Amino acid sequence: MEVPGELVGALRRARSVCVLTGAGVSAESGVPTFRDAQTGLWERYDPLELATPEAFEQNPRLVWDWYAWRRELVREAEPNPAHHALAELEELVPEFVLVTQNVDGLHRRAGSRQVVELHGNLGYVICASERTPVSPDEFVPAGEDRPPLCPRCGSYLRPDVVWFGETLSMGRISEAQAAAAGCDVFLSVGTSSVVYPAAGLASEAARSGALVVEVNPQETPLSGASDHVLRAPAGTALPALVEALKD
Ligand code: OAD
Repeated sequence: MEVPGELVGALRRARSVCVLTGAGVSAESGVPTFRDAQTGLWERYDPLELATPEAFEQNPRLVWDWYAWRRELVREAEPNPAHHALAELEELVPEFVLVTQNVDGLHRRAGSRQVVELHGNLGYVICASERTPVSPDEFVPAGEDRPPLCPRCGSYLRPDVVWFGETLSMGRISEAQAAAAGCDVFLSVGTSSVVYPAAGLASEAARSGALVVEVNPQETPLSGASDHVLRAPAGTALPALVEALKD
């Protein structure tokens, strides 16, 4: 795939690069996004109704089991060439921050280090009251119809992800905004650019004079405001970008 020379030059000169990823970067690993059709036992449930505090309130065990199923799916998935290209890009630029909306942990598994998991990580479990991490060997089983309990306070355990209607961690947002405001090149990869505050990072970067690049096979609200659009799957475009940078 052809990568614009201006973009390669900007990456070569860049002191700092910030990347935002969404579900599209994991699509080629076969990880279903919320909007993909649910399969098997979960076919009859609407994911947007499962990933909410209300659903957890009404049926904590159902929500717990849904995340256990997704954890299994992700465990069986492998990082794809897009994840690996981003891990390689991190080594090629002086400063690099990867902000992801994904909760599948695949960036870290591919070797990315400076990762801001804006929406959390479904591989981690926290106490629903204390919001502190609980490791699997500390889970207190509470029978078939309830999630396991916190060993410290007895509250239900839950996945360490941001549910619809919940606020994101201010620390993670400020880290992401600082990275976007301070970068020379901003890559928006595999996101529909409609969920804020993540979708606002590109304009934050543009305001500070960064070159904004979108990598997505489809048009998004960001496309028209991007300096470059690589209209291709991330698993094709990102390896091509890194190869061109190394030439
Ligand atoms: P979406 O499912 O909204 O968008 C996925 C984007 O990836 C779309 O624009 C696709 O065109 C694009 N895409 C698909 N395959 C691709 C590929 N192979 N390479 C590159 N792009 C590809 O997912 P997000 O934008 O991540 O929030 O959604 C953002 C947030 O919406 C999620 O984090 C979730 C949801 O509400 C929370 O969970 C809080």
